[in-house]
Amino acid sequence: MRTIDLCAAVALCIVPSSQLLAADEVSVERGLYISIIGGCHFCHTEGYREADGKIDPEKALKGSSVGWRGPWGTTYASNLRESARVYTVDKWVDYLKNRFTMPPMPWYQVQAMNESDSRSLFLYITSLGAPGDAAPRYRTIGKEPKTPYVTLAPPQTPKK
Ligand code: HEC
Repeated sequence: MRTIDLCAAVALCIVPSSQLLAADEVSVERGLYISIIGGCHFCHTEGYREADGKIDPEKALKGSSVGWRGPWGTTYASNLRESARVYTVDKWVDYLKNRFTMPPMPWYQVQAMNESDSRSLFLYITSLGAPGDAAPRYRTIGKEPKTPYVTLAPPQTPKK
């Protein structure tokens, strides 16, 4: 908990050291750690890349309005606070194990998480406060996005 309190107090997150966290611990702190090493903030937290990896607690995992455009259309990293709050922790574990998405979401990384990773992630996400607005909706192939976007080339194609 101390890391999260610190985030709230000084608007700056201190990365928890992996040495302080047991591998199978289920905690908010470990959830924060997993969200960092799993790269979730890279796409799901606005401003994270520009701030060289500093997490703004106001924006943490609320999704992004910058699209990812490719042969699949334009996708937006979703608001994970909004997604998590409709699940119980058990349903969330199942959800992460079975969820496939369009690019560039690395769903294969999320599916590789073990149960304590998914549970910790859930505790962290649901500790973050009000979900706020949803990310922009998916734009279908050929439709010009109404937001800034990144074009992915060479193209990465979805399975279906
Ligand atoms: C390279 C960018 C990127 C990274 C890194 C990334 N995501 Fe995503 N994520 C996306 C995009 C884009 C979507 C929307 C995909 C779609 O519309 O099909 C998405 C969708 C999702 C979804 C399904 C929609 C929802 O909210 O229920 C989940 C769950 C998710 N991401 C969790 C994670 C987690 C957990 C991590 C870290 C381990 C992560 N993502 C890392 C870009 C990313």
